[in-house]
Amino acid sequence: MTSQRQSAAKRSTLATKLRILNQIVFDRRNTHLFSQLFYRSTGSEPEEYCRWYFNNLVWQDTTWMGIETYKSPCDMWNYQEILVDLKPSLVIEFGTAFGGSAVFWASVMRQIGKPFKVLSVDISHKLLRPAARRDPDVEFVESSSASPEIAERIRQLRSEYPGKVWAILDSDHTKDHVLAEMKLLRPLLSTGDYLVVEDSLLNGHPVASEWGPGPYEAIQAYEEEFPNDYTHDTPREKKFGWSFAPYGFMVRN
Ligand SMILES: C[S@@+](CC[C@H](N)C(=O)[O-])C[C@H]1O[C@@H](n2cnc3c(N)ncnc32)[C@H](O)[C@@H]1O
Repeated sequence: MTSQRQSAAKRSTLATKLRILNQIVFDRRNTHLFSQLFYRSTGSEPEEYCRWYFNNLVWQDTTWMGIETYKSPCDMWNYQEILVDLKPSLVIEFGTAFGGSAVFWASVMRQIGKPFKVLSVDISHKLLRPAARRDPDVEFVESSSASPEIAERIRQLRSEYPGKVWAILDSDHTKDHVLAEMKLLRPLLSTGDYLVVEDSLLNGHPVASEWGPGPYEAIQAYEEEFPNDYTHDTPREKKFGWSFAPYGFMVRN
């Protein structure tokens, strides 16, 4: 009887100690202290993970609601946070592919609860999934993203859906095409609108060094010509350590 009581007392003391340890470790300030004490970053982990994710083609096997979505999940989480803060009324996507990303924008926007439209443009709809096509809040247009008809459609949608714009360029990743898209958007975006230039990681930033001038170089060329158009949202870009869009998170001045 006495030994049963002793072991019950031991168990309860152990449980109390564990509870206290738990409280110490999971207090936010202490978690920071513990990670400082027991973890030393080499500084290269985010880039290593980016290379691993890209070179193993995990992005080709990533889905949203069952639809292929060629993105980094860290970026998608980041975009979700930006959308919730920005609360745009128009989302412009250049490069639809299967439609996973378009449905992602619409899913987040529906939760925000304001009237909105997603315009998703692709030169070909041959990959577009029926499940994406059925989304009532996405207008899929089959066209080159740099065509004047697209500029006109954006103008119309801006007046139908007044408010902020979130735009993401994810179509043809050559420098010339991305530069053309950025120039097309120039008269269409206003102060506070958000532009993401995707896949600026190509051409050695830090992957696919054989790619040739791509989105990163397009941003640089655009900024040489129009240095005052955008402010880089560097804290957001760096938040998760790596991104498919390095130097590509931009807010219109
Ligand atoms: C990287 S994929 C888009 C991925 C998609 N946004 C996603 O996250 O799953 C690029 C797409 O751009 C399209 N594309 C290529 N050239 C284009 C152009 N000039 N205008 C519009 N779309 C183009 C391709 O057909 C392809 O579907």
